[in-house]
Amino acid sequence: MPFRKQEAHTFQGWEQVTELHERILELAVSRSFFFPANEPYGATGGFYDYGPVGVLIKRKIENLWRRKFIYEHGFHEMESAIVTPEQILIASGHVSSFADPVVDCKMCKARIRADTLVEKEVKGWKWDGKIESITLAIKEHEIKCPGCKVGGALSAAYMFNLMFKTAIGGDQSPAYFRPETAQGIFTAFPRIFRNHGAKLPLAVGQVGKSFRNEISPRKGLVRMREFTQMELEYFFNPGRQGIEEFNKVADRKLRMQVEAKTSEMSVRDISENKIAANEIMAYFLALEWDFYTACGVDQKRMYFRVLGKAEVPHYSKGNIDLEVETSYGIVETIGNAYRTDFDLSQHAKTSGQDLSVFVEEEKKKLVPHVFEASMGVDRMFFCILEHCFREKEASKSKTEDSKPETVKDWEWFDFPPAIAPYDVAVFPLMKKDGLAEKAEEITARLRSTLGVLYQESGSIGRRYARADEIGIPYAITIDYDTLKDETVTIRYRNDGGQERIKISELEVSIRKNIESGRVRLNEKS
Ligand code: GLY
Repeated sequence: MPFRKQEAHTFQGWEQVTELHERILELAVSRSFFFPANEPYGATGGFYDYGPVGVLIKRKIENLWRRKFIYEHGFHEMESAIVTPEQILIASGHVSSFADPVVDCKMCKARIRADTLVEKEVKGWKWDGKIESITLAIKEHEIKCPGCKVGGALSAAYMFNLMFKTAIGGDQSPAYFRPETAQGIFTAFPRIFRNHGAKLPLAVGQVGKSFRNEISPRKGLVRMREFTQMELEYFFNPGRQGIEEFNKVADRKLRMQVEAKTSEMSVRDISENKIAANEIMAYFLALEWDFYTACGVDQKRMYFRVLGKAEVPHYSKGNIDLEVETSYGIVETIGNAYRTDFDLSQHAKTSGQDLSVFVEEEKKKLVPHVFEASMGVDRMFFCILEHCFREKEASKSKTEDSKPETVKDWEWFDFPPAIAPYDVAVFPLMKKDGLAEKAEEITARLRSTLGVLYQESGSIGRRYARADEIGIPYAITIDYDTLKDETVTIRYRNDGGQERIKISELEVSIRKNIESGRVRLNEKS
């Protein structure tokens, strides 16, 4: 089912769709990037399925994160339990503080996010954090339910906890679906520390689902109730706030927004001028910048924003977010937080366990401090789709210096080869005369190491278009010459340029192209 603006209500949450989105969503839904979950039953807002194409891209993003943030540093990865006993989330502060202000409509019974409702209705109004201020503003400005036809009166505002509650086993012990993957890392830290060298620093990452019962989950993938996080918790001795690898990135320039002013700053300046909480945080900002760039987010449309004191979460002593500009507005996609010893100390207090560690060089016990880099995969996926989306004929102006030039009569995605759903498409020119058999043989060989989409139906031009629409960087065509001389045509996605290549060199050549990010014929690799 293709996406249509008039069907936005069935997509629950894409109501504010922009014209650009309508086109991106149409491709994303009809080409199996993602779609609403449980469709035959009427979609439930805030839940999405990744289809066969989207899931390939998502896995590549996650695996690239693993490479850059875990493997290349010799850090650890874990997978913690999702259902979390209440005590843990009382300790972390989520039971008492992880809540949004809401009001209920007395007529239609809808629950509505209260601070944003008043902001929308009263120009210049900003919430001061007190629940009474919202109730007062609703009374003063006679704000009614925006959803129900009769404009129902609203209840007093109250705080609504965003966690999904459940109960464990026969005794029905209260528990929650985790609101962040981080808590599982904190509770596993003492064992991982003992099992893996008993030394600081020690970093543990996790990729997994988290859950937030958003009141009105608008904006599709940007605000989901069930979503994937990639989180890294870096445990360190608070007396040593530096990181060994710092000099490798110190001269790199990043776009920083401090008190609403955006400028370029070196990672060294970010650290030395205390823009970041410490050198460790500054180092990871550089890594995140590179990671986002490698995944196709446009550097000119992203920046790090230093959060003001009032915006910093209860557990943090300094936060810097990565924000990405989209046609939907600014999307916060990474939260960097200096969580100090907050979580470990809270868990020590609540569990009654000693969670401090012995530091050999200083011959003393201490509770490690934590730097956290927390990313939402779905939001990032959304930003990549938007930044890599290319209009019909957009390739014309982009390929002025590359020949031959083809003008695309279709919309397509300019994904970096590293995150494209398939590495290569394989097409026999015709199904007959042994071409399909030869193409299948090549496909089988390439599939041992590469992701291959094989397609034999439709005109070759239509198949190229379909491959471009899901951002496959290279297409191989098997034609009559192939049967004579064991060569094939490789077509480059971005300029449609083609070259002839020996079958025996195919795999190495494609791999080289992927590694260099080459997607045009005349680009130097
Ligand atoms: N771990 C930080 C967050 O999920 O917001």
